Amino acid sequence: MDLLSLARTVKDRVEAPITDVLAVAKVVTDPRTPLLLALSTVVVTPLYRAAFLASASGSGVLRCLAVRPCDLESLAEYLEVPEDRERLRTWLETGVRLGEFEVREGCYRLRSTTAKLLAQSGNDAVAAALEEIMRFHLPVLLDAPRMLKEGRRFSLDDQDGTVIARSSLALQGLVHEAIDRTLERTTPIRLLEIGCGSGAYVRHAARLNPRLTALAVDLQEEVAVRAADNMTEWGLTDRVETRQGDLRTLELQPQFDLVTLHNNIYYFPEADRVEVLERARSFLAPGGRLLLTSSCQGGGNLGLDVLNLWFEYADFGGPLPSEDELVAQLEKAGFADVRASRIIPTQPFRAFVGTNVQA
Ligand SMILES: C[S@@+](CC[C@H](N)C(=O)[O-])C[C@H]1O[C@@H](n2cnc3c(N)ncnc32)[C@H](O)[C@@H]1O
Repeated sequence: MDLLSLARTVKDRVEAPITDVLAVAKVVTDPRTPLLLALSTVVVTPLYRAAFLASASGSGVLRCLAVRPCDLESLAEYLEVPEDRERLRTWLETGVRLGEFEVREGCYRLRSTTAKLLAQSGNDAVAAALEEIMRFHLPVLLDAPRMLKEGRRFSLDDQDGTVIARSSLALQGLVHEAIDRTLERTTPIRLLEIGCGSGAYVRHAARLNPRLTALAVDLQEEVAVRAADNMTEWGLTDRVETRQGDLRTLELQPQFDLVTLHNNIYYFPEADRVEVLERARSFLAPGGRLLLTSSCQGGGNLGLDVLNLWFEYADFGGPLPSEDELVAQLEKAGFADVRASRIIPTQPFRAFVGTNVQA
């Protein structure tokens, strides 16, 4: 090595760390760096985790891994991925990187407590709520200004009815309490449930009153089919008929002692609600009652605010009801003795009861 080369090497060795330090200093003192770091930690990483968990839950991967650790091949088989194992691996490895999964002896396992909890069947409503938030709430937050500009609205097809039917069971405790307070336990009862979702509340009513029989109806075909399957699984087909149907066009005699609408009054535009409630009343026998449960305006619940926003941007439905407005609409629809009651003090969730006194 000649002297000049030696000098150059020494100079390079000495300068490299200096250059590194300068580069680091430049990046660190960039005024955008703290914002980027804060965003990444506080906003982006939790969002990535939530999206990954929603996808792992919705695809069934969480449940699958909760039963036993799985290698890439068995997960590909489970997910019916015909080829392209490497892209599946990249997705799984992202889950590892996010701390939700881990790999041991070539098999993927659940790692985070959240992933383990979401995989439990008792937490299905919470897992579905996470999916609802990621798939349906985020688009309205992301696209509202663009939708306004383009005159675009969400339609019922933008919701997955079966996910909503599961997520809405997060309110189960509140709805059960409303049913417990209202349902006659010993006399034979004929129940009509409109917008039955999973059918879980008809099941609850049938358990409380062994002489109850019911017609459960839902607008969405796939939801009604799933509810009918549930009735079969729960051994209720001799007491409960389940079918697809729209409240606005149902042809039924005034034969029911109780009509229930749980968590769906906001599927109807505000201007149509009196008419909708009149129709619900027309199915009641004289003296029959309506039980309607719903989350209402106010209460400072951010999730409900975004749900409200979604319905504001949909081409069907309308905002969550306000308690006073809905009481007035029930009275206008001909119900007597209308009462709104709160179930627990902190929740903007109300049970509305009205009686059909007309023959
Ligand atoms: C948020 S989900 C609630 C499901 C169930 N009641 C519960 O609380 O778990 C609302 C349901 O109402 C149904 N629905 C909406 N409009 C309807 C209509 N016009 N007739 C019958 N069902 C309707 C939807 O298809 C959907 O399944």
